[in-house]
Amino acid sequence: MEQIRSFLTIVVCSIVHTHAASRPHIVFMVSDDLGWNDVGWHNSHIGSYYLSKFAHEGVTLNNSYMQPVCSPSRGSYLSGYYPFHTGLQHGIVQDSQPKYLPSNFTLLPEKLKELGYATHMVGKWHLGFCNWQYTPNHRGFDSFMGYYGGAEDYYTHQSGRGYDFRLNDAIHHAPAGEYSTVTYTNRVIDIIHQHDPQTQPLFLYVAYQNVHSPLQVPQHYEDLHSHIPNADRRSFTGMVNAMDDSFGNITTALKNGGYWDNLLIIFTSDNGGSITEGGNNWPLRGNKGTLWEGGTRVPGFVYSPSLLSKTGYTNSEMIHAVDWFPTILAAAGGISDNRMDGVSQWSMLQHGTQSARTEFVYNIDDISGHAAIRVGDYKLVTGSGGARDGWYPVNHWHQHQHHSSTTSASSTQLYNLRDDPTEHHDISSQYPDIVSSLQTKLANYRKNQMVPQNPDSVQHVLHSYNNVWTPGWC
Ligand SMILES: *[C@@H]1O[C@H](CO)[C@@H](O)[C@H](O)[C@H]1NC(C)=O
Ligand SMILES: *[C@@H]1O[C@H](CO)[C@@H](O)[C@H](O)[C@H]1NC(C)=O
Ligand SMILES: *[C@@H]1O[C@H](CO)[C@@H](O)[C@H](O)[C@H]1NC(C)=O
Repeated sequence: MEQIRSFLTIVVCSIVHTHAASRPHIVFMVSDDLGWNDVGWHNSHIGSYYLSKFAHEGVTLNNSYMQPVCSPSRGSYLSGYYPFHTGLQHGIVQDSQPKYLPSNFTLLPEKLKELGYATHMVGKWHLGFCNWQYTPNHRGFDSFMGYYGGAEDYYTHQSGRGYDFRLNDAIHHAPAGEYSTVTYTNRVIDIIHQHDPQTQPLFLYVAYQNVHSPLQVPQHYEDLHSHIPNADRRSFTGMVNAMDDSFGNITTALKNGGYWDNLLIIFTSDNGGSITEGGNNWPLRGNKGTLWEGGTRVPGFVYSPSLLSKTGYTNSEMIHAVDWFPTILAAAGGISDNRMDGVSQWSMLQHGTQSARTEFVYNIDDISGHAAIRVGDYKLVTGSGGARDGWYPVNHWHQHQHHSSTTSASSTQLYNLRDDPTEHHDISSQYPDIVSSLQTKLANYRKNQMVPQNPDSVQHVLHSYNNVWTPGWC
């Protein structure tokens, strides 16, 4: 009996193992605030050598959407739910706000762990940290190196008066004076080298600090762009190069480390570029933080040496932030909860088939008083789409620094994004039936929205923890 049992154990284990090892290694890379016009494949003045090469050889995404700002985007792709279903639809998580992605949502790394993956995260979290239960190590990541908040100094890891840098749950001090991108890249390469790709699939979530403000970059990257007159744009463009170098180093480590045969790389921005902080979305309309295409339609690509049957082209099918969870899970051989807002786009990415969706919600934010939905080629925007809603060519952004919204809170606008991707022509008065049908759809989505989290900041959080941003106050 004992012998049979141990024989069965061996058989079962080896089946599980064979299966686990055949699942692809997945590297999900997210750049912060990288605008439409901030990548080499849209703008030849940007030096994104490695990123452009992989985009070109993989599948370049030309209709890929995120939320207008960081926390809602991150919540969407890690949970598979729209922010109006998680309470994150209004703005970002401020450092001293007791605001978070609620813990009843199962995150992507937790599902991947069930499939046998090792799961590691490096970089920016921004989904709340007022309680340990909301932080990366407690939400499915085997390891985490990075920061909990939305932005910080690239060298000192200070956010306001607080220090924000961790290795797992512990406060961490990176080599003094080291640019964070180098620290993160070295960390990712260590993980790649320490992990055995033959026995266990790896999920790496690389949430770059680049190219979010503050505009900081080692001088030699900035020097590559001495011809750029605007100082912010010059630093920003150098920051893209730093990230590109990191991408090059990480992909080399994956190649040398034996991951190449069974690897999927996804690269995307988390929202549009911020024109007051060096970014650019030209020719798209609007800025980071707006519901216009410039705030939400993001550059990205997928790449795999072996898993995609159609590569080397630009994919125009619709994909939204919420789809990354079920898509990545499907690539890993898993199945997601069908109540989720996201749908798997794995077949579309793998074989170039049609998108699994024909519509999506840009956002519903009743505090800001605006919402937008896309159905097929049509986009309805209700209320003001957000401040800085014009068109901003590179190096002319400063004229628009204080630009406020030109549309009123009571406006309803309709655009045909196939004919007019830059949203110049409001056609709502010509197509009242389409307006009304999109309004009905939006009203249906609105029915079961969660109350937006918008708590007051907690005072003196930093005082209680020696000026380190630390969980434990909600
Ligand atoms: C990508 O989208 C832009 C804007 O809608 C369009 O001008 C361009 O032709 C598209 N690229 C491809 C290759 O389809
Ligand atoms: C999480 O809880 C909220 C209520 O607090 C509920 O509306 C939502 O449906 C729950 N979501 C999931 C995925 O369990
Ligand atoms: C990439 O690797 C090169 C060569 O080792 C190194 O000089 C550079 O600092 C690395 N870049 C990053 C961003 O890690």
